Amino acid sequence: TDTDQENEKMNDDEMSYDLVSRPRRLRTTPAMRRFAAETRVTPSELILPVFVKEGLSEPQPLASMPGVVQHSMDSLKRAAAEAVELGLSGFMLFGVPETRDAVGSAALDPEGILNRGIRAVREEVGDEIVVMSDLCLDEFTDHGHCGVLDEQGRVDNDRTLEIYGRMGVAQAQAGAHMVAPSGMMDGQVGVIRAALDAAGREDVSILAYSAKYSSAFYGPFREAVDSTLTGDRKAYQMDPANRREALLEMQLDLDEGADMVMVKPAMSYLDILREVADASPVPVSAYQISGEYAMIEAAAANGWINRDAAVRESVLSIKRAGANSILTYYATELARWFRDENGR
Ligand code: PBG
Repeated sequence: TDTDQENEKMNDDEMSYDLVSRPRRLRTTPAMRRFAAETRVTPSELILPVFVKEGLSEPQPLASMPGVVQHSMDSLKRAAAEAVELGLSGFMLFGVPETRDAVGSAALDPEGILNRGIRAVREEVGDEIVVMSDLCLDEFTDHGHCGVLDEQGRVDNDRTLEIYGRMGVAQAQAGAHMVAPSGMMDGQVGVIRAALDAAGREDVSILAYSAKYSSAFYGPFREAVDSTLTGDRKAYQMDPANRREALLEMQLDLDEGADMVMVKPAMSYLDILREVADASPVPVSAYQISGEYAMIEAAAANGWINRDAAVRESVLSIKRAGANSILTYYATELARWFRDENGR
């Protein structure tokens, strides 16, 4: 045909193929790319993890997480008010106590820093955002493990469960809407559910850290909670080599009454997140953790990557992999950007 001959006769000034599909057409302008975008992140999908430290009068910056602080009670309340104003979904609270002991007593004390922090945040925000609390002993034990130790120095699963149950009730009574067990003890969700129900707190929900891996990327978090951990958590957190057990852990947590499940860390585990998201009948969260934050900040500080673009891309990819909500230290900043850009 004429056209075929035309196409074969390619000269230097008018070279063009008769391609049926040109995906670049949908990438031509910002407006076109916005129209074609399959994935968007909104403030209501973001949850801000926050640290509140006992005895502080001013917030303390964290060297390994530039831009993140340990809050005083006052700055914590201001951060909570800001989260409401920006339309975040929630707040995940971590407490940093002044004193620690072998069994993490401060976790059960209604006047312990985490429980006081929960109470202060609830007074500030009411039901405007979801107030969540980390349910784990590592911030409260002097050895830094997520549970109590037996005579051999191993983390004692079932004795820890008993404490987790009471800890869940203490957090619920302090005002947590949702508790988030992150210690990776077998049976933790079931024991906490039963304890909450026995205390008449059927209304309090559980976000289970179901697939929580033993990750090197938790490093900066140890500074954030002044942790003194010696050794590692490999005997209870999951092996990064494994995929199948993520689905097993998810199923067990669902059977035990988890209302939502989580994958953590996020960026090195996007494959796991996708599988859990595909299999889960309940909403799935992912946690962009301290080391993921620190990597972006460090590279950006060196001028090696564009910080804002990297932040957006990282969170977008977590959403694309199937997360319904994302815990990220960038939550506030992202929400402010989204607001200023009016959805762009
Ligand atoms: C356990 C807990 C940890 C994090 C959240 N909950 C630390 C750990 O398991 O070692 C890490 C969060 C982060 O790195 O940002 N209480």
